[in-house]
Amino acid sequence: VGIARSIYLSGMMGSGKSTVARAVAERAGAPFVDLDAEIERGAGKPIRELFAAEGEAAFRAREASALSTLLADATPRVVALGGGALLHRAVRLRALDHGIVVTLTAPAAELARRVAKDDGRPLLNGHGDRAARLQEIWDARAAGYAEAHAVLDASRASPDELAAEVLRLAAIDPIAVALGERSYTVDVVPGAAGEHLARALDRLAPSRIALVTDETVDRLLPERIGAPAAARAGLVRVVLPPGEKHKTLAAVERILIALVDAPVDRGAVVVAVGGGVVSDITGLAAALALRGLRWVAVPTTVLSMVDASVGGKTAVDLGAAKNAVGAFHQPSRVIVDPSFSATESDRAFRSGLAEVVKTALIGDGSLYEDLRAPGRAEALVRDREPDLVHRAIRSSIRVKAGVVSRDERELGERAHLNLGHTIGHALEAEGGFERLTHGEAVALGLVAALRIGVGLGVTPPALAAEVTDLLARLALPVDLDAEPVEKALRWVGYDKKRQGGAIRLVLVRGPGAVEVRKLSAGELAPLLKA
Ligand SMILES: NC(=O)c1ccc[n+]([C@@H]2O[C@H](COP(=O)([O-])OP(=O)(O)OC[C@H]3O[C@@H](n4cnc5c(N)ncnc54)[C@H](O)[C@@H]3O)[C@@H](O)[C@H]2O)c1
Repeated sequence: VGIARSIYLSGMMGSGKSTVARAVAERAGAPFVDLDAEIERGAGKPIRELFAAEGEAAFRAREASALSTLLADATPRVVALGGGALLHRAVRLRALDHGIVVTLTAPAAELARRVAKDDGRPLLNGHGDRAARLQEIWDARAAGYAEAHAVLDASRASPDELAAEVLRLAAIDPIAVALGERSYTVDVVPGAAGEHLARALDRLAPSRIALVTDETVDRLLPERIGAPAAARAGLVRVVLPPGEKHKTLAAVERILIALVDAPVDRGAVVVAVGGGVVSDITGLAAALALRGLRWVAVPTTVLSMVDASVGGKTAVDLGAAKNAVGAFHQPSRVIVDPSFSATESDRAFRSGLAEVVKTALIGDGSLYEDLRAPGRAEALVRDREPDLVHRAIRSSIRVKAGVVSRDERELGERAHLNLGHTIGHALEAEGGFERLTHGEAVALGLVAALRIGVGLGVTPPALAAEVTDLLARLALPVDLDAEPVEKALRWVGYDKKRQGGAIRLVLVRGPGAVEVRKLSAGELAPLLKA
Protein backbone atom coordinates (compact mmCIF):
# COMPACT_ATOMS: atom_id res chain seq x y z
CA VAL A 1 0.00 0.00 0.00
CA GLY A 2 2.64 2.50 1.08
CA ILE A 3 2.10 5.69 3.05
CA ALA A 4 3.18 9.23 2.26
CA ARG A 5 3.36 10.48 5.84
CA SER A 6 3.84 8.94 9.24
CA ILE A 7 0.81 7.63 11.06
CA TYR A 8 0.56 8.18 14.81
CA LEU A 9 -1.81 6.07 16.86
CA SER A 10 -2.72 7.83 20.06
CA GLY A 11 -5.37 7.23 22.71
CA MET A 12 -6.21 5.33 25.83
CA MET A 13 -4.23 2.45 27.30
CA GLY A 14 -5.90 -0.80 26.38
CA SER A 15 -7.36 0.59 23.17
CA GLY A 16 -5.01 -1.57 21.14
CA LYS A 17 -2.72 1.08 19.69
CA SER A 18 0.27 -1.25 19.31
CA THR A 19 -1.73 -4.09 17.78
CA VAL A 20 -3.47 -1.79 15.31
CA ALA A 21 -0.26 0.11 14.51
CA ARG A 22 1.52 -3.15 13.80
CA ALA A 23 -1.30 -4.21 11.48
CA VAL A 24 -1.21 -0.85 9.70
CA ALA A 25 2.59 -1.06 9.28
CA GLU A 26 2.35 -4.56 7.90
CA ARG A 27 -0.32 -3.66 5.33
CA ALA A 28 1.53 -0.49 4.32
CA GLY A 29 4.97 -2.09 4.25
CA ALA A 30 6.20 0.72 6.51
CA PRO A 31 8.42 0.55 9.59
CA PHE A 32 6.62 0.15 12.93
CA VAL A 33 7.71 2.01 16.05
CA ASP A 34 6.40 1.51 19.56
CA LEU A 35 7.36 4.70 21.36
CA ASP A 36 7.18 3.15 24.85
CA ALA A 37 9.44 0.30 23.71
CA GLU A 38 11.90 2.86 22.27
CA ILE A 39 11.97 4.66 25.61
CA GLU A 40 12.49 1.39 27.50
CA ARG A 41 15.31 0.46 25.17
CA GLY A 42 16.94 3.88 25.61
CA ALA A 43 16.62 3.79 29.39
CA GLY A 44 17.51 0.12 29.74
CA LYS A 45 14.56 -0.54 32.05
CA PRO A 46 10.79 -1.00 31.91
CA ILE A 47 8.53 2.05 32.11
CA ARG A 48 7.12 0.85 35.42
CA GLU A 49 10.63 1.08 36.93
CA LEU A 50 11.34 4.41 35.19
CA PHE A 51 8.21 5.87 36.75
CA ALA A 52 9.17 4.52 40.17
CA ALA A 53 12.76 5.72 39.96
CA GLU A 54 12.38 9.08 38.21
CA GLY A 55 8.71 10.02 38.50
CA GLU A 56 6.21 10.89 35.76
CA ALA A 57 7.80 14.23 34.80
CA ALA A 58 11.14 12.63 33.95
CA PHE A 59 9.37 9.94 31.95
CA ARG A 60 7.44 12.60 29.99
CA ALA A 61 10.72 14.36 29.18
CA ARG A 62 12.16 11.13 27.74
CA GLU A 63 8.94 10.58 25.84
CA ALA A 64 8.98 14.11 24.40
CA SER A 65 12.54 13.74 23.23
CA ALA A 66 11.91 10.36 21.58
CA LEU A 67 8.87 11.80 19.82
CA SER A 68 10.76 14.92 18.75
CA THR A 69 13.27 12.74 16.97
CA LEU A 70 10.47 11.06 15.01
CA LEU A 71 8.79 14.37 14.21
CA ALA A 72 12.01 15.74 12.77
CA ASP A 73 12.34 12.82 10.36
CA ALA A 74 10.60 12.57 7.00
CA THR A 75 10.63 8.75 6.83
CA PRO A 76 7.01 7.58 6.94
CA ARG A 77 6.51 5.28 9.90
CA VAL A 78 3.61 3.83 11.81
CA VAL A 79 3.99 4.85 15.43
CA ALA A 80 2.15 3.57 18.49
CA LEU A 81 2.28 6.36 21.06
CA GLY A 82 1.95 6.18 24.81
CA GLY A 83 -1.40 7.49 26.01
CA GLY A 84 0.12 10.71 27.31
CA ALA A 85 2.60 11.37 24.51
CA LEU A 86 0.49 14.06 22.83
CA LEU A 87 -0.71 15.80 25.99
CA HIS A 88 1.36 18.88 25.25
CA ARG A 89 -0.56 20.92 22.75
CA ALA A 90 2.49 22.25 20.92
CA VAL A 91 3.74 18.67 20.38
CA ARG A 92 0.26 17.55 19.34
CA LEU A 93 0.01 20.31 16.73
CA ARG A 94 3.43 19.32 15.39
CA ALA A 95 2.30 15.71 15.09
CA LEU A 96 -0.90 16.78 13.33
CA ASP A 97 1.15 18.77 10.86
CA HIS A 98 3.79 16.08 10.36
CA GLY A 99 1.60 13.02 10.00
CA ILE A 100 -1.80 11.46 10.41
CA VAL A 101 -2.94 11.24 14.02
CA VAL A 102 -5.61 8.73 14.94
CA THR A 103 -7.04 8.46 18.45
CA LEU A 104 -8.19 5.00 19.48
CA THR A 105 -10.63 4.74 22.30
CA ALA A 106 -13.21 2.42 23.84
CA PRO A 107 -15.70 2.60 26.73
CA ALA A 108 -13.91 2.67 30.09
CA ALA A 109 -15.36 -0.68 31.20
CA GLU A 110 -13.98 -2.32 28.06
CA LEU A 111 -10.55 -0.71 28.57
CA ALA A 112 -10.54 -1.86 32.20
CA ARG A 113 -11.30 -5.41 31.11
CA ARG A 114 -8.44 -5.31 28.62
CA VAL A 115 -5.83 -4.08 31.12
CA ALA A 116 -7.17 -6.14 34.07
CA LYS A 117 -4.18 -8.46 34.27
CA ASP A 118 -1.58 -5.84 33.40
CA ASP A 119 0.35 -4.50 36.41
CA GLY A 120 2.79 -2.44 34.29
CA ARG A 121 0.45 0.58 34.19
CA PRO A 122 1.75 3.22 36.63
CA LEU A 123 -1.24 5.53 36.13
CA LEU A 124 -3.60 2.80 37.34
CA ASN A 125 -1.59 1.62 40.33
CA GLY A 126 -3.26 2.06 43.66
CA HIS A 127 -6.67 2.57 42.10
CA GLY A 128 -9.15 -0.14 43.06
CA ASP A 129 -11.82 0.74 40.51
CA ARG A 130 -9.86 0.69 37.29
CA ALA A 131 -12.85 1.57 35.08
CA ALA A 132 -13.53 4.70 37.15
CA ARG A 133 -9.86 5.64 37.02
CA LEU A 134 -9.75 5.11 33.24
CA GLN A 135 -12.88 7.26 32.84
CA GLU A 136 -11.17 9.97 34.90
CA ILE A 137 -8.09 9.84 32.68
CA TRP A 138 -10.27 9.97 29.55
CA ASP A 139 -12.24 12.96 30.86
CA ALA A 140 -9.05 14.86 31.59
CA ARG A 141 -7.65 14.12 28.15
CA ALA A 142 -10.78 14.10 25.98
CA ALA A 143 -10.29 17.55 24.41
CA GLY A 144 -6.70 16.71 23.49
CA TYR A 145 -7.58 13.28 22.14
CA ALA A 146 -10.26 14.92 19.98
CA GLU A 147 -7.52 16.89 18.25
CA ALA A 148 -6.78 14.16 15.74
CA HIS A 149 -7.47 13.35 12.12
CA ALA A 150 -9.93 10.75 13.36
CA VAL A 151 -11.20 9.24 16.60
CA LEU A 152 -12.04 5.56 16.25
CA ASP A 153 -13.91 3.37 18.71
CA ALA A 154 -11.73 0.29 19.06
CA SER A 155 -14.47 -1.73 20.74
CA ARG A 156 -16.56 -1.75 17.58
CA ALA A 157 -14.10 -3.21 15.10
CA SER A 158 -11.32 -5.77 14.90
CA PRO A 159 -7.69 -4.61 14.74
CA ASP A 160 -7.66 -5.55 11.06
CA GLU A 161 -10.76 -3.49 10.33
CA LEU A 162 -9.29 -0.60 12.29
CA ALA A 163 -6.04 -0.87 10.34
CA ALA A 164 -7.96 -0.75 7.06
CA GLU A 165 -9.87 2.31 8.31
CA VAL A 166 -6.63 4.06 9.30
CA LEU A 167 -5.14 3.40 5.86
CA ARG A 168 -8.27 4.68 4.10
CA LEU A 169 -7.89 7.84 6.11
CA ALA A 170 -4.18 8.15 5.37
CA ALA A 171 -4.89 7.83 1.65
CA ILE A 172 -7.12 10.94 1.87
CA ASP A 173 -4.35 12.74 3.78
CA PRO A 174 -6.78 15.09 5.55
CA ILE A 175 -5.72 18.42 7.02
CA ALA A 176 -6.68 18.85 10.67
CA VAL A 177 -8.17 21.95 12.22
CA ALA A 178 -7.47 21.30 15.89
CA LEU A 179 -10.03 22.91 18.17
CA GLY A 180 -10.59 20.52 21.05
CA GLU A 181 -13.88 18.68 20.78
CA ARG A 182 -14.84 20.91 17.83
CA SER A 183 -11.92 19.65 15.76
CA TYR A 184 -12.55 18.66 12.17
CA THR A 185 -10.69 17.83 9.01
CA VAL A 186 -10.45 19.42 5.61
CA ASP A 187 -10.36 16.62 3.05
CA VAL A 188 -8.84 17.59 -0.28
CA VAL A 189 -10.28 15.07 -2.70
CA PRO A 190 -9.83 15.93 -6.39
CA GLY A 191 -12.78 14.76 -8.46
CA ALA A 192 -14.39 12.89 -5.57
CA ALA A 193 -16.56 15.38 -3.67
CA GLY A 194 -19.74 13.34 -4.03
CA GLU A 195 -18.32 10.13 -2.65
CA HIS A 196 -16.59 11.86 0.25
CA LEU A 197 -19.60 13.98 1.11
CA ALA A 198 -21.73 10.85 1.27
CA ARG A 199 -19.20 9.17 3.56
CA ALA A 200 -18.86 12.22 5.81
CA LEU A 201 -22.64 12.44 6.16
CA ASP A 202 -22.81 8.75 7.07
CA ARG A 203 -20.33 9.37 9.89
CA LEU A 204 -22.26 12.38 11.16
CA ALA A 205 -25.47 10.32 11.16
CA PRO A 206 -27.77 13.32 10.67
CA SER A 207 -31.47 13.14 11.56
CA ARG A 208 -32.05 15.17 8.42
CA ILE A 209 -29.95 16.95 5.80
CA ALA A 210 -30.40 20.46 4.44
CA LEU A 211 -28.49 21.34 1.28
CA VAL A 212 -27.87 25.01 0.53
CA THR A 213 -26.37 26.26 -2.70
CA ASP A 214 -26.81 29.09 -5.20
CA GLU A 215 -28.45 29.07 -8.61
CA THR A 216 -25.15 28.87 -10.51
CA VAL A 217 -23.70 26.02 -8.49
CA ASP A 218 -27.03 24.21 -8.40
CA ARG A 219 -26.68 23.53 -12.13
CA LEU A 220 -23.32 21.83 -11.54
CA LEU A 221 -24.47 19.60 -8.73
CA PRO A 222 -25.90 16.56 -10.51
CA GLU A 223 -22.60 16.02 -12.27
CA ARG A 224 -20.33 17.05 -9.38
CA ILE A 225 -21.85 15.59 -6.27
CA GLY A 226 -24.37 13.37 -7.96
CA ALA A 227 -27.21 11.55 -6.34
CA PRO A 228 -25.77 10.65 -2.91
CA ALA A 229 -26.77 13.82 -1.09
CA ALA A 230 -29.79 14.59 -3.23
CA ALA A 231 -31.27 11.14 -2.89
CA ARG A 232 -31.50 11.17 0.91
CA ALA A 233 -34.96 11.03 2.32
CA GLY A 234 -36.41 14.28 3.55
CA LEU A 235 -33.66 16.43 2.07
CA VAL A 236 -34.33 20.13 2.63
CA ARG A 237 -33.09 22.17 -0.33
CA VAL A 238 -32.45 25.89 -0.48
CA VAL A 239 -31.16 27.53 -3.66
CA LEU A 240 -30.05 31.12 -3.09
CA PRO A 241 -29.58 33.84 -5.70
CA PRO A 242 -25.82 34.14 -6.40
CA GLY A 243 -23.54 37.04 -5.59
CA GLU A 244 -22.28 39.23 -2.77
CA LYS A 245 -25.32 41.52 -2.96
CA HIS A 246 -27.42 38.63 -1.70
CA LYS A 247 -25.16 38.02 1.30
CA THR A 248 -27.80 39.44 3.61
CA LEU A 249 -29.90 38.59 6.64
CA ALA A 250 -32.75 37.92 4.22
CA ALA A 251 -30.80 34.97 2.80
CA VAL A 252 -30.13 33.66 6.31
CA GLU A 253 -33.82 33.97 7.07
CA ARG A 254 -34.73 31.96 3.98
CA ILE A 255 -32.60 29.07 5.21
CA LEU A 256 -33.96 29.35 8.74
CA ILE A 257 -37.54 29.27 7.49
CA ALA A 258 -36.82 26.18 5.39
CA LEU A 259 -35.25 24.46 8.41
CA VAL A 260 -38.07 25.36 10.79
CA ASP A 261 -40.73 24.47 8.22
CA ALA A 262 -39.21 21.06 7.55
CA PRO A 263 -39.02 20.83 10.61
CA VAL A 264 -35.52 19.70 11.53
CA ASP A 265 -34.28 18.78 15.00
CA ARG A 266 -30.86 19.37 16.51
CA GLY A 267 -29.49 16.24 14.89
CA ALA A 268 -29.78 17.81 11.45
CA VAL A 269 -26.75 18.69 9.34
CA VAL A 270 -26.66 21.65 6.96
CA VAL A 271 -24.47 21.28 3.88
CA ALA A 272 -23.20 24.38 2.07
CA VAL A 273 -22.14 23.78 -1.51
CA GLY A 274 -20.85 26.92 -3.18
CA GLY A 275 -18.48 29.84 -3.01
CA GLY A 276 -17.68 31.99 0.00
CA VAL A 277 -21.01 33.76 -0.21
CA VAL A 278 -22.92 30.50 0.19
CA SER A 279 -20.71 29.19 3.01
CA ASP A 280 -20.76 32.49 4.92
CA ILE A 281 -24.57 32.66 4.78
CA THR A 282 -25.11 28.97 5.45
CA GLY A 283 -22.65 28.78 8.31
CA LEU A 284 -24.39 31.69 10.00
CA ALA A 285 -27.82 30.12 9.48
CA ALA A 286 -26.48 26.87 10.97
CA ALA A 287 -25.15 28.80 13.98
CA LEU A 288 -28.55 30.37 14.60
CA ALA A 289 -30.95 27.54 13.80
CA LEU A 290 -32.09 25.84 17.02
CA ARG A 291 -29.09 27.56 18.67
CA GLY A 292 -26.64 25.67 16.52
CA LEU A 293 -26.74 22.87 13.99
CA ARG A 294 -23.77 20.99 12.61
CA TRP A 295 -22.72 21.98 9.12
CA VAL A 296 -20.46 20.73 6.36
CA ALA A 297 -18.77 22.96 3.80
CA VAL A 298 -18.21 21.88 0.22
CA PRO A 299 -16.50 24.94 -1.28
CA THR A 300 -16.65 25.32 -5.05
CA THR A 301 -14.42 28.34 -5.70
CA VAL A 302 -10.68 28.55 -5.07
CA LEU A 303 -11.36 31.47 -2.76
CA SER A 304 -13.76 29.53 -0.61
CA MET A 305 -11.53 26.43 -0.63
CA VAL A 306 -8.46 28.24 0.65
CA ASP A 307 -10.14 30.75 2.90
CA ALA A 308 -13.88 31.13 3.46
CA SER A 309 -14.79 27.53 4.28
CA VAL A 310 -12.00 26.93 6.79
CA GLY A 311 -11.93 28.50 10.23
CA GLY A 312 -15.55 28.95 11.26
CA LYS A 313 -16.03 32.65 10.59
CA THR A 314 -19.54 33.10 9.23
CA ALA A 315 -21.22 36.40 8.39
CA VAL A 316 -23.48 38.47 6.19
CA ASP A 317 -23.24 42.10 5.16
CA LEU A 318 -25.41 44.84 6.64
CA GLY A 319 -25.73 47.49 3.96
CA ALA A 320 -22.21 48.63 3.16
CA ALA A 321 -20.85 47.14 6.36
CA LYS A 322 -19.25 43.96 5.06
CA ASN A 323 -19.47 40.86 7.26
CA ALA A 324 -20.91 43.04 10.01
CA VAL A 325 -23.30 40.38 11.36
CA GLY A 326 -21.79 37.03 12.08
CA ALA A 327 -20.71 34.30 14.42
CA PHE A 328 -17.89 31.87 14.94
CA HIS A 329 -19.35 28.49 14.10
CA GLN A 330 -16.97 25.77 12.99
CA PRO A 331 -18.07 23.23 10.39
CA SER A 332 -17.94 19.53 11.23
CA ARG A 333 -16.13 18.72 8.00
CA VAL A 334 -14.84 20.52 4.92
CA ILE A 335 -14.69 18.67 1.62
CA VAL A 336 -12.52 20.36 -0.95
CA ASP A 337 -12.65 19.16 -4.53
CA PRO A 338 -10.21 21.36 -6.46
CA SER A 339 -11.71 20.26 -9.77
CA PHE A 340 -14.81 22.32 -8.97
CA SER A 341 -12.71 25.33 -9.86
CA ALA A 342 -12.54 24.26 -13.52
CA THR A 343 -15.92 25.87 -14.21
CA GLU A 344 -15.24 29.13 -12.37
CA SER A 345 -15.13 32.28 -14.47
CA ASP A 346 -11.60 33.54 -15.15
CA ARG A 347 -12.25 36.51 -12.96
CA ALA A 348 -13.45 34.45 -9.99
CA PHE A 349 -10.62 31.92 -10.38
CA ARG A 350 -7.94 34.64 -10.40
CA SER A 351 -9.56 36.25 -7.38
CA GLY A 352 -9.02 33.06 -5.45
CA LEU A 353 -5.36 33.11 -6.39
CA ALA A 354 -4.99 36.48 -4.64
CA GLU A 355 -5.82 34.72 -1.37
CA VAL A 356 -3.33 31.98 -2.25
CA VAL A 357 -0.56 34.57 -2.64
CA LYS A 358 -1.62 36.19 0.64
CA THR A 359 -1.55 32.85 2.43
CA ALA A 360 1.86 31.96 1.01
CA LEU A 361 3.22 35.30 2.21
CA ILE A 362 2.00 34.84 5.76
CA GLY A 363 2.97 31.24 6.28
CA ASP A 364 4.51 29.25 3.44
CA GLY A 365 7.68 30.60 1.88
CA SER A 366 8.07 27.49 -0.26
CA LEU A 367 4.59 27.89 -1.76
CA TYR A 368 5.53 31.48 -2.55
CA GLU A 369 8.72 30.34 -4.32
CA ASP A 370 6.73 27.66 -6.14
CA LEU A 371 4.27 30.25 -7.47
CA ARG A 372 7.09 32.53 -8.51
CA ALA A 373 8.97 29.88 -10.49
CA PRO A 374 9.23 30.65 -14.21
CA GLY A 375 6.01 29.92 -16.08
CA ARG A 376 4.18 28.74 -12.96
CA ALA A 377 1.83 31.71 -12.53
CA GLU A 378 1.01 31.67 -16.22
CA ALA A 379 0.30 27.92 -16.16
CA LEU A 380 -2.01 28.49 -13.22
CA VAL A 381 -4.15 31.24 -14.71
CA ARG A 382 -4.01 30.15 -18.35
CA ASP A 383 -4.23 26.38 -18.13
CA ARG A 384 -5.44 25.86 -14.56
CA GLU A 385 -3.11 22.89 -14.54
CA PRO A 386 -4.87 20.49 -12.15
CA ASP A 387 -1.71 19.48 -10.29
CA LEU A 388 -0.66 23.05 -9.71
CA VAL A 389 -4.14 24.11 -8.66
CA HIS A 390 -4.36 21.18 -6.27
CA ARG A 391 -0.97 21.94 -4.72
CA ALA A 392 -1.66 25.65 -4.30
CA ILE A 393 -5.02 24.94 -2.68
CA ARG A 394 -3.69 22.25 -0.37
CA SER A 395 -0.70 24.28 0.80
CA SER A 396 -2.89 27.30 1.47
CA ILE A 397 -5.38 25.28 3.50
CA ARG A 398 -2.56 23.86 5.60
CA VAL A 399 -1.41 27.35 6.49
CA LYS A 400 -4.91 28.52 7.36
CA ALA A 401 -5.71 25.37 9.35
CA GLY A 402 -2.53 25.85 11.39
CA VAL A 403 -3.28 29.49 12.11
CA VAL A 404 -6.87 28.74 13.16
CA SER A 405 -5.73 25.84 15.36
CA ARG A 406 -3.37 28.15 17.20
CA ASP A 407 -5.68 31.17 17.42
CA GLU A 408 -9.34 30.53 16.65
CA ARG A 409 -10.69 33.80 18.02
CA GLU A 410 -8.16 36.15 16.47
CA LEU A 411 -6.49 37.17 19.70
CA GLY A 412 -3.12 37.12 17.98
CA GLU A 413 -1.77 35.26 15.00
CA ARG A 414 -5.10 34.88 13.15
CA ALA A 415 -4.95 38.62 12.46
CA HIS A 416 -2.15 37.79 9.99
CA LEU A 417 -4.80 36.42 7.64
CA ASN A 418 -5.97 40.00 7.20
CA LEU A 419 -2.85 40.80 5.20
CA GLY A 420 -4.03 42.94 2.28
CA HIS A 421 -7.56 43.07 3.63
CA THR A 422 -7.56 46.44 5.43
CA ILE A 423 -7.11 48.56 2.32
CA GLY A 424 -8.59 45.75 0.20
CA HIS A 425 -11.92 45.86 2.03
CA ALA A 426 -11.94 49.64 1.83
CA LEU A 427 -11.49 49.55 -1.96
CA GLU A 428 -14.08 46.81 -2.24
CA ALA A 429 -16.58 48.93 -0.30
CA GLU A 430 -15.70 52.03 -2.29
CA GLY A 431 -16.55 50.09 -5.43
CA GLY A 432 -19.93 49.22 -3.97
CA PHE A 433 -18.88 45.52 -3.81
CA GLU A 434 -19.43 45.38 -7.56
CA ARG A 435 -16.56 47.09 -9.31
CA LEU A 436 -13.93 44.80 -7.72
CA THR A 437 -14.24 41.18 -6.69
CA HIS A 438 -13.05 40.33 -3.18
CA GLY A 439 -9.86 38.78 -4.57
CA GLU A 440 -9.11 41.72 -6.84
CA ALA A 441 -9.53 44.03 -3.87
CA VAL A 442 -7.18 41.79 -1.87
CA ALA A 443 -4.56 41.96 -4.64
CA LEU A 444 -4.68 45.76 -4.53
CA GLY A 445 -4.72 45.61 -0.74
CA LEU A 446 -1.56 43.50 -0.85
CA VAL A 447 0.14 46.08 -3.04
CA ALA A 448 -0.94 48.70 -0.49
CA ALA A 449 0.40 46.65 2.44
CA LEU A 450 3.70 46.19 0.61
CA ARG A 451 3.96 49.91 -0.09
CA ILE A 452 3.25 50.75 3.55
CA GLY A 453 5.77 48.11 4.63
CA VAL A 454 8.44 49.61 2.40
CA GLY A 455 7.60 53.09 3.73
CA LEU A 456 8.05 51.90 7.30
CA GLY A 457 11.22 49.97 6.53
CA VAL A 458 9.61 46.60 7.24
CA THR A 459 9.29 45.23 3.70
CA PRO A 460 12.37 45.02 1.47
CA PRO A 461 11.64 47.08 -1.69
CA ALA A 462 12.83 44.21 -3.91
CA LEU A 463 10.31 41.86 -2.30
CA ALA A 464 7.51 44.39 -2.80
CA ALA A 465 8.38 44.59 -6.50
CA GLU A 466 8.59 40.81 -6.76
CA VAL A 467 5.18 40.17 -5.16
CA THR A 468 3.57 42.89 -7.26
CA ASP A 469 5.04 41.24 -10.35
CA LEU A 470 3.66 37.85 -9.26
CA LEU A 471 0.17 39.31 -8.78
CA ALA A 472 0.36 40.93 -12.22
CA ARG A 473 1.43 37.62 -13.77
CA LEU A 474 -1.65 36.10 -12.15
CA ALA A 475 -3.64 38.70 -14.09
CA LEU A 476 -4.71 40.47 -10.90
CA PRO A 477 -4.99 44.27 -10.65
CA VAL A 478 -1.93 45.94 -9.09
CA ASP A 479 -2.22 49.58 -10.16
CA LEU A 480 -2.94 51.13 -6.79
CA ASP A 481 -2.43 54.67 -8.11
CA ALA A 482 -5.40 54.21 -10.45
CA GLU A 483 -7.61 53.41 -7.45
CA PRO A 484 -9.66 55.87 -5.38
CA VAL A 485 -7.49 55.12 -2.35
CA GLU A 486 -7.97 58.41 -0.56
CA LYS A 487 -11.75 58.25 -0.80
CA ALA A 488 -11.74 54.59 0.17
CA LEU A 489 -9.89 55.28 3.42
CA ARG A 490 -13.15 56.43 5.03
CA TRP A 491 -14.21 52.76 5.05
CA VAL A 492 -11.18 51.73 7.06
CA GLY A 493 -12.92 53.22 10.10
CA TYR A 494 -15.61 50.54 9.78
CA ASP A 495 -13.15 47.70 9.76
CA LYS A 496 -13.95 45.09 12.41
CA LYS A 497 -10.26 44.73 13.14
CA ARG A 498 -9.85 48.32 14.31
CA GLN A 499 -8.91 48.80 17.96
CA GLY A 500 -9.69 52.17 19.49
CA GLY A 501 -8.49 54.75 17.03
CA ALA A 502 -5.65 52.66 15.68
CA ILE A 503 -5.69 50.59 12.53
CA ARG A 504 -3.86 47.29 12.79
CA LEU A 505 -1.98 46.57 9.61
CA VAL A 506 -0.29 43.34 8.67
CA LEU A 507 3.04 43.96 6.96
CA VAL A 508 5.33 41.58 5.12
CA ARG A 509 8.89 41.10 6.35
CA GLY A 510 9.72 38.25 4.01
CA PRO A 511 8.04 35.29 2.31
CA GLY A 512 6.32 33.45 5.16
CA ALA A 513 7.01 36.17 7.74
CA VAL A 514 4.67 39.02 8.68
CA GLU A 515 4.17 41.42 11.56
CA VAL A 516 1.36 43.61 12.85
CA ARG A 517 1.78 47.38 13.27
CA LYS A 518 -0.71 49.86 14.67
CA LEU A 519 -1.13 53.09 12.72
CA SER A 520 -3.48 56.03 12.94
CA ALA A 521 -5.55 57.01 9.90
CA GLY A 522 -3.41 60.15 9.65
CA GLU A 523 -0.19 58.13 9.41
CA LEU A 524 -1.70 55.77 6.86
CA ALA A 525 -2.66 58.19 4.09
CA PRO A 526 0.81 59.55 3.21
CA LEU A 527 2.32 56.05 3.20
CA LEU A 528 -0.11 55.00 0.49
CA LYS A 529 1.02 57.70 -1.93
CA ALA A 530 3.19 56.51 -4.82
N1 LIG B 1 -15.59 33.32 6.30
C1 LIG B 1 -14.37 33.60 5.93
O1 LIG B 1 -13.42 33.33 6.63
C2 LIG B 1 -14.16 34.23 4.59
C3 LIG B 1 -12.86 34.32 4.07
C4 LIG B 1 -12.68 34.86 2.81
C5 LIG B 1 -13.77 35.30 2.09
N2 LIG B 1 -15.01 35.20 2.61
C6 LIG B 1 -16.19 35.65 1.84
O2 LIG B 1 -16.30 34.89 0.66
C7 LIG B 1 -17.00 35.66 -0.31
C8 LIG B 1 -16.32 35.51 -1.66
O3 LIG B 1 -16.32 34.16 -2.02
P1 LIG B 1 -16.31 33.70 -3.55
O4 LIG B 1 -15.27 34.45 -4.27
O5 LIG B 1 -16.30 32.24 -3.56
O6 LIG B 1 -17.68 34.32 -4.08
P2 LIG B 1 -19.08 33.70 -4.50
O7 LIG B 1 -19.57 32.74 -3.53
O8 LIG B 1 -19.95 34.86 -4.80
O9 LIG B 1 -18.74 32.94 -5.85
C9 LIG B 1 -18.39 33.69 -6.99
C10 LIG B 1 -19.34 33.36 -8.17
O10 LIG B 1 -18.98 32.09 -8.71
C11 LIG B 1 -20.11 31.22 -8.78
N3 LIG B 1 -19.57 29.88 -8.58
C12 LIG B 1 -19.25 29.28 -7.40
N4 LIG B 1 -18.66 28.10 -7.63
C13 LIG B 1 -18.61 27.93 -8.97
C14 LIG B 1 -18.10 26.91 -9.80
N5 LIG B 1 -17.50 25.83 -9.30
N6 LIG B 1 -18.23 27.07 -11.14
C15 LIG B 1 -18.82 28.18 -11.65
N7 LIG B 1 -19.29 29.18 -10.91
C16 LIG B 1 -19.18 29.06 -9.58
C17 LIG B 1 -21.03 31.73 -7.73
O11 LIG B 1 -22.36 31.40 -8.04
C18 LIG B 1 -20.79 33.24 -7.78
O12 LIG B 1 -21.57 33.80 -8.81
C19 LIG B 1 -17.04 37.07 0.19
O13 LIG B 1 -18.33 37.36 0.64
C20 LIG B 1 -16.07 37.07 1.36
O14 LIG B 1 -16.42 37.99 2.37
C21 LIG B 1 -15.23 34.67 3.83
